Amino acid sequence: MTSNSAFEKFATDVDKGLGEYPKNLSSKYFYNAEGDKIFQDIMKMPEYYLTDCEFEIFEKQKAQILESIQTKGKFNLVELGAGDGLKTKILIQYFSDQNVEFEYFPIDISADVLNELKSDLEFRFPKLKVHPLNYEYFEALEKLNELDGSPKVLLFLGGNIGNFSNKMALDFYSQLNGILNDDDKIISGIDLKKNPHIILDAYNDKTGITRSFNMNLLKRMNTELGANFNLAQFEHYPTYDPKTGEARSYIISKVAQIVEIKTLRKSYEFKAWEAIHMEISKKYDLDQIQELAKRSGFKVLKNFQDEKRYFVDSLWLRVPQPPV
Ligand code: AVJ
Repeated sequence: MTSNSAFEKFATDVDKGLGEYPKNLSSKYFYNAEGDKIFQDIMKMPEYYLTDCEFEIFEKQKAQILESIQTKGKFNLVELGAGDGLKTKILIQYFSDQNVEFEYFPIDISADVLNELKSDLEFRFPKLKVHPLNYEYFEALEKLNELDGSPKVLLFLGGNIGNFSNKMALDFYSQLNGILNDDDKIISGIDLKKNPHIILDAYNDKTGITRSFNMNLLKRMNTELGANFNLAQFEHYPTYDPKTGEARSYIISKVAQIVEIKTLRKSYEFKAWEAIHMEISKKYDLDQIQELAKRSGFKVLKNFQDEKRYFVDSLWLRVPQPPV
């Protein structure tokens, strides 16, 4: 269910993006019910190595992870965009087995996802306190600060930071820094630069799942905004640029055409072969991660990597900020 203001935001963002040159749409709108399902399928694709890598890191290094985040008293494990919490459950299981004192605060904008996660966790871990926060990230963190001042370990997993440009990533971590306390920590799952063929394959599967993930946004605009995108006249085109580390996906208009969006009472003109930029999935190297941490007021404590060194869960400490 989409609330009225979420609908307004979607409509405004679509209008803005399609009015720009080059045209663009935000990949955050991929995730309606159908998009969530398609993303689950993406995570099961053999080409999509990210999920397996982060799984391996948690499975094999959970003891070292716990060792580097443990505090004297209780800590709060906070997860940005918790989803089904599949990977987090590895940590939660291990922390519980070790009788670690912690509570879990999953943050997600989907109430359905949170309810499901909460009941699943309460069934598996009867002693664990789960406090779902159904808000946008920063709003949720402000609420949490009011509720409980225990040290925080923030999880931002799965390579989600990749959807941000350089500047957006820096803004995001700087804003996080402003809301965290000294000694709070962040673990970010970040995809690394590697053989460009491997990266491109992960976003260019022959089965067409990633294609439908992108096309689903056109479908979504048709159903939710009364648009008349004819999907047959658009083509999905993924790229990877090893210089910038950016995997990008485009939807290309195969013909000159006009698309109408009823709820916006507007139409948008597409030239033949004009592109809509849909998503960026940025890959980093360890030096860039170091730099990003430093510039946003954090210190890299440890990088946990999988055996192939495709992916990193980077643990950062918020360094005390000078008074302003
Ligand atoms: C969920 C943002 C990490 O960019 O790799 C997967 C989304 N897009 N295949 C990514 C995605 C195409 C994914 N993230």
